[in-house]
Amino acid sequence: MASFSTLFSTLILTIALLSFSCSSQQFFSPVEKDPITNLFSTLLWVGTEPTHEFNFVIDIGGPILWYDCNKAYNSSTYNPISCESKHCTNDAGCTSCNGPFKPGCSNNTCGANIINPLVDAIFSGDTGSDALFIPKSKIKVSDFISGCTDSNAFADSADSDFPLKNLPKTSKGILGLARTPLSLPKQLSLAPQKILNKFVLCLPSSNKLGGLFIGGVPSNFAKFNSLLFLLLLTPLALLQYLLKVMLLMNTLLM
Ligand SMILES: *[C@@H]1O[C@H](CO)[C@@H](O)[C@H](O)[C@H]1NC(C)=O
Ligand SMILES: *[C@@H]1O[C@H](CO)[C@@H](O)[C@H](O)[C@H]1NC(C)=O
Repeated sequence: MASFSTLFSTLILTIALLSFSCSSQQFFSPVEKDPITNLFSTLLWVGTEPTHEFNFVIDIGGPILWYDCNKAYNSSTYNPISCESKHCTNDAGCTSCNGPFKPGCSNNTCGANIINPLVDAIFSGDTGSDALFIPKSKIKVSDFISGCTDSNAFADSADSDFPLKNLPKTSKGILGLARTPLSLPKQLSLAPQKILNKFVLCLPSSNKLGGLFIGGVPSNFAKFNSLLFLLLLTPLALLQYLLKVMLLMNTLLM
């Protein structure tokens, strides 16, 4: 009996150690502030052959990651999410397209709500999965689900809104960090890397680098403490995140 319980507790200890080492991975991506718009952004790589290095504006109230898949965009690893998929919430309808197949042009595709809070508008787009690379952490998620929209389809009408309007010139999309099933932290927590579903955002002043940390707080966190929080938010998200951030800061500073 004794040996059985020893075996049992060894097993539990092993499981605990395993799960600890599985979740010790962290995601880090440098964050910078655009001096013209005062928006904060980070670089991520999307797709393969070719891989696209895109600058994403960070929106902590945004439900998904979305990017511009205009005429010039293609990726050999892109797969549209069908309208029947369990990943399809069906709140943006089902899309179809007459052109040659490419990201943003496919039939029976789960629609995506492409939200640009800077113009207070929602644009139509497609939901698809593709490779996502986080260059600084050398992490690759091969089937990351995001939204994409062809900005060329909107740009024609001179003074009306289009998906990238009011974003920094270099930005190609928005990285949403809200508590949704498709947000970056949530999807990373389900990927093989098993990164914990939490994040810390250190927003830099101009000419400095901040960081987006997902999965935990780095040991050299103090280096990043010229913090100034928050940008694009709904009041509820602001409250939720400020509370979390304050709690976290408290634990760190004590
Ligand atoms: C995009 O790439 C796919 C896969 O490589 C290819 O089948 C397709 O023809 C390409 N589409 C365009 C519009 O270039
Ligand atoms: C979508 O379906 C239509 C009608 O069947 C077809 O003409 C078109 O080529 C299809 N589009 C793509 C991207 O396969």
